Amino acid sequence: TMPLRGGNESAELIMEDGGVYRNPTEVKMSQIVLPCHANHRKELSVGQLLKWMDSTACLSAERHAGCSCVTASVDDIHFERTIGVGQVVNIQAKVNRAFNTSMEVGIVASCEDLYSNSHWTVCQAFATFVARSTGTEKVHLKQLVPRTHREQVEYSVAAERRRMRLIHIDTMKDLLNSTSFQNLNTIELPAERTRVESVELVLPPHANHQVSTFGGQIMAWMENVATIAASRLCNAHPTLRTIDMFHFRGPSQVGDRLILKAIVNNTFKNSMEVGVCAEAYQGEEPLRHINSAFMTFEVLDEEGSPRPLPPICPEPKDGKRRYQEAIARKKIRLDRKYIISCKYTEMPLSVPWDPTNQVYLSYNNVFALKMLAARNKWVLSSKKNNVKLYTLEENQTLSFRVEAEVKVPAARAFLLLSDLSRRPEWDKHYKQCELIVPVDEDDLIYRVLTPSVSEGGKVQDFILLASRRPPCDDGDPYVVALRSVTLPTHPPIDDINRGEVFCAGFTIYEVSESVSKVRINYYNQTNPGVLPYIATDIAGLSSSFCSTFLSCNKFLLENRTGPSVISNAAM
Ligand code: COA
Ligand code: ADP
Repeated sequence: TMPLRGGNESAELIMEDGGVYRNPTEVKMSQIVLPCHANHRKELSVGQLLKWMDSTACLSAERHAGCSCVTASVDDIHFERTIGVGQVVNIQAKVNRAFNTSMEVGIVASCEDLYSNSHWTVCQAFATFVARSTGTEKVHLKQLVPRTHREQVEYSVAAERRRMRLIHIDTMKDLLNSTSFQNLNTIELPAERTRVESVELVLPPHANHQVSTFGGQIMAWMENVATIAASRLCNAHPTLRTIDMFHFRGPSQVGDRLILKAIVNNTFKNSMEVGVCAEAYQGEEPLRHINSAFMTFEVLDEEGSPRPLPPICPEPKDGKRRYQEAIARKKIRLDRKYIISCKYTEMPLSVPWDPTNQVYLSYNNVFALKMLAARNKWVLSSKKNNVKLYTLEENQTLSFRVEAEVKVPAARAFLLLSDLSRRPEWDKHYKQCELIVPVDEDDLIYRVLTPSVSEGGKVQDFILLASRRPPCDDGDPYVVALRSVTLPTHPPIDDINRGEVFCAGFTIYEVSESVSKVRINYYNQTNPGVLPYIATDIAGLSSSFCSTFLSCNKFLLENRTGPSVISNAAM
């Protein structure tokens, strides 16, 4: 039956028949940790956990797809806690969104202590599964219809995560190519000592009924060799902290021999990076590269604090290259963790932009706008000439949303609104707007000059990252997200106040294609600093918003014909 109401973010959805809504793709698994699942420290081995997580996620994907699915990739996983023998692991997986042949599955693993009845999250992951057709035709997955508020948010953000995933390999390649080589200092332990090579034979229990090897099984074997390499370095039992985003390059079947190789690539103050490579072969055939992964380990002392690790001496050639690349990966990994986690309170308003964090800042930009748009506590504060102003007060921030419908083709409205250099034509708050870094087709950095807010006050400038996204399918809006960044080439200057935008931008929904009508929402989230100033003047603000929007409307109508495809010329 259909759910009756969206409810607020945490409330349960009640169905027409009085039952509680449950996502039809949700799959749960509970396991009690036995000694055979544990390592020497009597903690659940991460490899076993990955196997359980992968099979739960695979069953969820198959539930949606209605056919057999394989793991294509897994995003970064951070292991927050370890799990002891005797405790229970609860794993929950559900499909967040289906694309063409692939699906994003969200997985949460939590631990339950049966004696104290306490529960805590151990890790969360996003995996992509691809539906395998039995015939020659490609599978076309049915769309997923998000029902609850939470599901809508995940659905919307899944598109942005997918984008990041698909460019991950190229991003890493570019970044690693641009790494400058440093002189190696105080060198001690030869990395060679940590090298591991191991073989596994893929048997039926390691594969699904169609003989494809389970991704989770391969991850477990990889984790096993990585742990041996890490142990050889520290002569102790290391703890796995993170696995970087990786993907399965090609399939493996029952009968494959899997060669797993691992070595410590570099050690940092309190952690080390171990790289693992998995290759497969059958008989005389050449090796097939299945997967490469990078794992970060720590060695904990009795108090649970990470112990310092000795520096290593890499082998010549590949070893030296990996040693340098590990340094670059560490920075990227940390950026990803902080920028992507979107923990606003821990993050400065304007994050320094650089090519190595571009992908993550742009993700964060779109994510923040989508999250703001998905809030369901917006209050209508005024309505004038069909322009509606909504406000949202939450956690010390005040946000606005201005909504209006305009008769313009959606793609054209998107093109016009995403080109900030045209904004001075309709927004009197934009005195001047200059494109300073054309990062790529989807992301541009502008410097915007705005008049002073008070008479005789200083002019303000903003350095804004504008990220624009066309819809991924019918369920999506066009998005133009704006946030402040800092650039070393454009420091604040005397006589001009440097302003900061935390989260702003547009969403554009097509209301009717036949009459070219769109619904445009403009969002702006203010930071706590300006809150008292603005909160006292909602009335004044609403008329100012309204007139700005009417002028935006006019601008769009006057320019409604013209190209609607973003080309480089438009930058
Ligand atoms: N992360 C997430 N999804 C990815 C991806 C990645 N790194 N690379 C490709 N995909 C997705 C594509 O977006 C596409 O999704 P869509 O159809 O919803 O748009 C889908 O995979 C197929 O992409 P396509 O370009 O047709 O195929 P490909 O040649 O890139 O192959 C795999 C992608 C995943 C099918 C292929 O690499 C493979 O078979 N890997 C092994 C999977 C496996 O057997 N895993 C179990 C353990 S070995
Ligand atoms: P890269 O060399 O660019 O890091 P690979 O896919 O070749 O990528 O390998 C991934 C990781 O696997 C390496 O960083 C390394 O840590 C490990 N590895 C690769 N080959 C070997 C090997 N022959 N012996 C031990 N470890 C290896």
